[in-house]
Amino acid sequence: MTQKYTPLKDHDTPIKVLFTGYLCTVGVGYLFALIQILFTHGMADGQFGLSVDDIVYSYYGNRSGTMLEQKLNGSMKENAPEQERFKIMDWVRDGADPYEYKDDGIEKIVQERCVMCHNKDASGLPDFSKLEGLKPYTTQDTGATFASLTRVSHIHLFGISFIFMFVGLIFSFSETTTTQYKCIAIGMPYAFLIADIMSWWLTKIDPIFAWLVIFAGMGMGISFMFMWVTSILEMWLYKPIFVNGLGSRYLEWRDNGEASIPDRLLALIKVLILEVKPAMQFIKAQWLARVWPLIESKLKK
Ligand code: HEC
Repeated sequence: MTQKYTPLKDHDTPIKVLFTGYLCTVGVGYLFALIQILFTHGMADGQFGLSVDDIVYSYYGNRSGTMLEQKLNGSMKENAPEQERFKIMDWVRDGADPYEYKDDGIEKIVQERCVMCHNKDASGLPDFSKLEGLKPYTTQDTGATFASLTRVSHIHLFGISFIFMFVGLIFSFSETTTTQYKCIAIGMPYAFLIADIMSWWLTKIDPIFAWLVIFAGMGMGISFMFMWVTSILEMWLYKPIFVNGLGSRYLEWRDNGEASIPDRLLALIKVLILEVKPAMQFIKAQWLARVWPLIESKLKK
């Protein structure tokens, strides 16, 4: 293969350090983004962990209840004892009457339990020191507002496209992936990014599109990981991986142009089985030694 570019492994060390520094920082950024998703959207249905429900609630809203109820059952659960939370929820279900707000003692609970965080000095949090601030949360939850979707959409489109610009640029110097697959890996994140943003809007209209949010997000993550790992390995571990290690078999397979596609697949499967076999044996041994006895003892009880 003739190359019109300097392969990653042949770049000067300062450039490699620059590339690696960028990739590592963006990688850590990606991790924090995932943690943030887990804590904001992940808690939308009141349970830890991301599910389709979370995404539906975040964008379409939980149209069977109000935002205030969901938060009281979700991320705000720890901020008031059960009894008081129920009182607030009762008041909301009864129509959030402004007179009952004072008379039923809801105001006192909110002042005591919520205003320490939700006051006018807290930037970014709604102010609950007056009923006006609480009011919007007592109506049916229709998910993300169009205003907030527009804001987040444009930030994501501009910001994330830049990340993939540089990750893709670095990865474009790799040599172990064929041009065809490189094009796919570099182009895919952009397609998924647009699909992801579109799917938020679509989910706002119909909850069925929550699946598209997950699918597009995963596609973006997979292409990111693939480019990241390939770039780092080629820069620093070219010899141990692609000359002497597992990667060399992959390269052999890739350049074996004569073989038909089924033959190539067969060869790939053989390689995989060879590598996977010891791993499977390890897992099997662990399963028999640790997990199965545990299940057995549970079943006996
Ligand atoms: C320890 C500080 C703290 C206390 C106390 C607190 N909150 Fe919150 N509240 C937050 C933070 C931080 C957020 C934003 C993150 C989130 O939505 O989980 C938030 C978000 C909310 C939201 C969603 C706001 C929005 O626009 O998305 C509602 C509704 C809410 N809280 C209600 C309450 C109620 C009712 C109470 C009292 C029972 C309460 N909070 C007590 C810190 C607090």
